[in-house]
Amino acid sequence: MIQAAAVRAGFLGSYHAGLMTSTKTFSMDDLVALCKRRGFIYPASEIYGGLNGFWDYGPLGTELKNNIRDAWWHDMVRCPPIGPDGEPISIVGLDSSIIQNPRVWEASGHVDGFNDPMVDCRETKSRYRADHLMVLGGEDTGERRLYAYLAGDDEGRDRAVKLLGKYEKVSAEEADWTDRPLVDLPAAALERVVGPDTKEPGSLTEPRQFNLMFKTFVGALQSEDSAAYLRPETAQGIFLNFNNVVDTMRVKVPFGIAQVGKAFRNEVTPRNYIFRSREFEQMEIEWFCHESEAATWFDFWCETRRKWWESMGLTSDSVQMRRHDADELAHYAKEGCGTFDVEYRFPFTSPDFGELEGVAHRGNYDLSRHMEFSKKKLEYFDQPRNERYLPHVIEPSAGLSRGTLAILCEAFTPDEARASKVYMKFQPRVAPIKAAVFPLVNKDGMPEIAGKLYETLRQRWPIQYDAKQSIGKRYARMDEAGCPWCFTVDSDTVNDQAVTVRDRDSLSQDRLAIDQVENWLADRLK
Ligand code: GAP
Repeated sequence: MIQAAAVRAGFLGSYHAGLMTSTKTFSMDDLVALCKRRGFIYPASEIYGGLNGFWDYGPLGTELKNNIRDAWWHDMVRCPPIGPDGEPISIVGLDSSIIQNPRVWEASGHVDGFNDPMVDCRETKSRYRADHLMVLGGEDTGERRLYAYLAGDDEGRDRAVKLLGKYEKVSAEEADWTDRPLVDLPAAALERVVGPDTKEPGSLTEPRQFNLMFKTFVGALQSEDSAAYLRPETAQGIFLNFNNVVDTMRVKVPFGIAQVGKAFRNEVTPRNYIFRSREFEQMEIEWFCHESEAATWFDFWCETRRKWWESMGLTSDSVQMRRHDADELAHYAKEGCGTFDVEYRFPFTSPDFGELEGVAHRGNYDLSRHMEFSKKKLEYFDQPRNERYLPHVIEPSAGLSRGTLAILCEAFTPDEARASKVYMKFQPRVAPIKAAVFPLVNKDGMPEIAGKLYETLRQRWPIQYDAKQSIGKRYARMDEAGCPWCFTVDSDTVNDQAVTVRDRDSLSQDRLAIDQVENWLADRLK
């Protein structure tokens, strides 16, 4: 949802924080370095110094993200889940334009309602989300200074503690220290707040609302008349095409329309790697149903979506469902019905959780607003009920970029016993490289046999051929890439027509007849 109450959820820490699950501990810095080193994720326009909030996916990151997207499309659109009544449900796909008529965003409520409170620092010209700032100071608001830091930023809080000791002569042991959200301070206290990057108080402005939509101009005339917006969610393209889909696809309520695509938000403080960026991808379903059945479908989608993330390899103790508090609800959420988030324990939120997907009951807010603003009828005639109505909508809205980050975090497995010290334990379904083929050495017919095997396998899957450096280094590279199996052609292959299969997770090495390799792999990648 629109990221309110992020402070309470505690997921705004810098990505230096370590992840501690029952099985592993690692620093986000190590994951970010691996992602760069192995071609998963690069900073956008890096050679020009980057651009805050924008990221590029490298060759392996692109494959990984596409695999997650394709798995979602397969499991939600092509072979959608079985509904609560035991019957298969129906979902169709869509790919709508990123730029739509600007009236769309007035109707959807984004022009008026898609705001975050922001605070500027007059001294450093930095800009912060007001609801991401905490202040540290004495319990009594008296005359003392208060020191601001970004929620979850341990280094920032340490700095505040140090400054309190230095300037306010308050020792770290003093009991009356309080951390509280900046937005809870009375307005008069703001002049005593020292900004996160300043030494003197009074540089922070009062919070003011900031619209998150990116504005652009359509056509040659750059005037307000030609202003338009990059979509902040893929959902609206679905509502706009509701009639088109009903008229052309012979679908009957209840049914869903799904879309995967880019969304853009001018986030005040993009943070935590690709978790909160300004350009990202969403995978959204708008599920249209009769009002009387909306509660059942809401429960169904909450359960289905949680299970889906678990089926993608996120362990159940790293995933939780959380109901939104009343003050977090988006402008479209139906009163009294609420929204659940599927949350994942990211390294920078641990031991708390951060949002991966929102499942919202949007009521008939969007269809009724578009009907009002466009003056076009969007009602549905339900033949079996003999009733004309605006369907209610349950919306499972997942972040593809965030999902990719969660799967990267889950896969990152430190292992001191390996040459690489770490391997990426991707499920084969999402692994960017499914298998690698190596000739042990570059002579004695081995490259020819390995090359032939590679040619065969790559017709069906993303396969890597590597003949450079020692076999140990090649295994290490594949461990970091998260490649589940390596096939090595060695000097025995010529005689026994078999290769060695090395398993990424168990490190077992077994012999397999070369003419069995394709079927063996197909079995495991089913
Ligand atoms: N149509 C509803 C909607 O857009 P949302 O909760 O604002 O709801 C849905 O966004 C999902 O999109 C989130 O759960 C998150 O995974 C992803 N998302 C939202 N803002 C994001 C950002 N700035 N960077 C990366 N992912 C984001």
